[in-house]
Amino acid sequence: MTTATAEPQIESAPSVTPDTEFLSGLDTPALKQRFDGDNEFLFLDAFLPADISRTFAGRIPELMETVHRNFIPKHKKGGSVSRYTLDELAPEIPALYRNPEFIAWLEQLTGESLQVCPESDPHAYALYFYTEPGDHIGWHFDTSYYAGKRYTLLLGVVDDSTSQLEFELFRNDESRDSVKNARNLRPGAMCFFNGDKVWHRITPLGENETRISLTFEYVTDPHMGRWQRFVSNMKDSIAYFGFKQVFTRALGLSSDKSKPSTR
Ligand SMILES: [Fe+2]
Repeated sequence: MTTATAEPQIESAPSVTPDTEFLSGLDTPALKQRFDGDNEFLFLDAFLPADISRTFAGRIPELMETVHRNFIPKHKKGGSVSRYTLDELAPEIPALYRNPEFIAWLEQLTGESLQVCPESDPHAYALYFYTEPGDHIGWHFDTSYYAGKRYTLLLGVVDDSTSQLEFELFRNDESRDSVKNARNLRPGAMCFFNGDKVWHRITPLGENETRISLTFEYVTDPHMGRWQRFVSNMKDSIAYFGFKQVFTRALGLSSDKSKPSTR
């Protein structure tokens, strides 16, 4: 007769490592052709699997208390949550941002070696909250203040709205007509583009609507001049995250990266 030995119960911590297996199901060569043909721009209605989108959306209730709202007359109205808060309250998001397979897939589109943004950049990954009527952002480029190129990835998280991402391709190409279009960024949808090439905006939110999207920023060279860093920090302070959040980190005044900014 053998005596069963009770195995110790080991509870493993929930993993935040994203499953990027879905990337293997994409026709990447065809998508790269589209990306190149549209001057480094790609929009996909179905990209992120529903379980990943649901995980991100599940973090929203707690994150709502940390949203920093901004209003710049005639340009922007809305809320943002920076990387520092996401590190603490939504670790799945930085996990996907830094995932090597995920970055390698984006590199296949760009043909460039992509790097994550430095710790000092609050915009490396962030959530945009459009939650009040009229929330929007006006026409702009995602200008690179870095020494190299800056690529933006937008992912739909929540979208119960009529707001659209409007974009104009080839705006700076004098050899051809520009191409204008508009799309809803529903959960699971993505838009990936070279920030200096795609002129874009988000149209105003309607009554009783909600639109929450995620942005990832990748660069080809993470170096940034002092003046460019100052300009970038001012932009992020005024238009997105507030002076305290941006300059406390930029000037190295706080080592407590885990503390969310609650406003
Ligand atoms: Fe933008």
